[in-house]
Amino acid sequence: MATVLAIETSCDETAVAIVNNRLLRSSIIASQIPVHSRYGGVVPEVASRQHLETINEAIAQAMEQAQLDWGEIDGIAATCAPGLVGALLVGLTAAKTLAMLHNKPFLGVHHLEGHIYATYLSEPKLEPPFLSLLVSGGHTSLIYVNDCGDYKTLGETRDDAAGEAFDKVARLLQLGYPGGPIIDRLAQQGNPQAFSLPEGKVSLPSGGYHPYDASFSGLKTAVLRLVQQLEKQQQPVPVKDVAASFQDTVARSLTKRAIACALNYGLDTIAVGGGVAANSGLRQHLQTAAAAHNLRVLFPPLKFCTDNAAMIGCAAADHLNRGHTSPLTLSVQSRLGLTDVMQLYH
Ligand code: KG4
Ligand code: ZN
Repeated sequence: MATVLAIETSCDETAVAIVNNRLLRSSIIASQIPVHSRYGGVVPEVASRQHLETINEAIAQAMEQAQLDWGEIDGIAATCAPGLVGALLVGLTAAKTLAMLHNKPFLGVHHLEGHIYATYLSEPKLEPPFLSLLVSGGHTSLIYVNDCGDYKTLGETRDDAAGEAFDKVARLLQLGYPGGPIIDRLAQQGNPQAFSLPEGKVSLPSGGYHPYDASFSGLKTAVLRLVQQLEKQQQPVPVKDVAASFQDTVARSLTKRAIACALNYGLDTIAVGGGVAANSGLRQHLQTAAAAHNLRVLFPPLKFCTDNAAMIGCAAADHLNRGHTSPLTLSVQSRLGLTDVMQLYH
């Protein structure tokens, strides 16, 4: 029953948490969104600098909130891949330093494995196998979760990730950053049937379409064309209806693929993770479709959908319980497949 202090700095949140197995003891999330939003997206150099300025205070606050001393911590973990290299380095270096200083095991954690583990924080009795629908700013995949560290990718996006599509469409509608929560809010006041948009099917060389792979770049272009056409005709852009139609198309596309995948692989549970798991349209579509097929669908609470360190600690605790630790020579990687996570451990 390992207690782990975990650090997450892969993108624009400086987060530190303490987790005992699947039980949260403390969680600090310092968001950099106000800093980056004036640039319309994350600026990597600015992100690294912000992490550096915030990390020590976040660690102190996490220790204080958990009311633990270093003697009660069994391991120190940090996200080491994938993500922004400079940003990852800040968290990883802090974790290695703490591990050396307090003579504790050190673990590097794959960010997407963390998003899978977010579900366990609210569903501690959940056990594999189950299907994970990972929908974040950088990734969109359907993963067969067989065991800790044992994953198979069954489907993925061929181009933009779902969150990336939300952010790009928000940018072209001049709504601000990050786009997902803004589009979600506007979509709730719009008509999802106002515009018919393409779902983005992926053709197979043998004919037909891939049952689980998705594509969102065509959808983004279709929204751009729609906006350009309305502007050319000097008509106002009905932003709420565009947002609702776009969101509905993404939600239907993800739902269709996740349900087909779970049924074909005989999995009765779909655990959703990543920032787009917070989306109200996706939640509604997936819950309705899952109920119709007698499947269980689990969404983490909103604060564990977007980036946080609790999910990283939860994954690290499971690895540590199994005797997995990382060498102090472990470095960060901007890209690393989820199927390669066991490379991170002795
Ligand atoms: O998981 P996450 O915090 O960071 C990555 O690992 O990428 O996901 C961030 C992404 C952003 O693209 C953001 O726009 C999207 O999640 N997002 C949402 C919502 N909340 C965050 N997308 C749709 N609806 C939301 N409510
Ligand atoms: Zn993430």
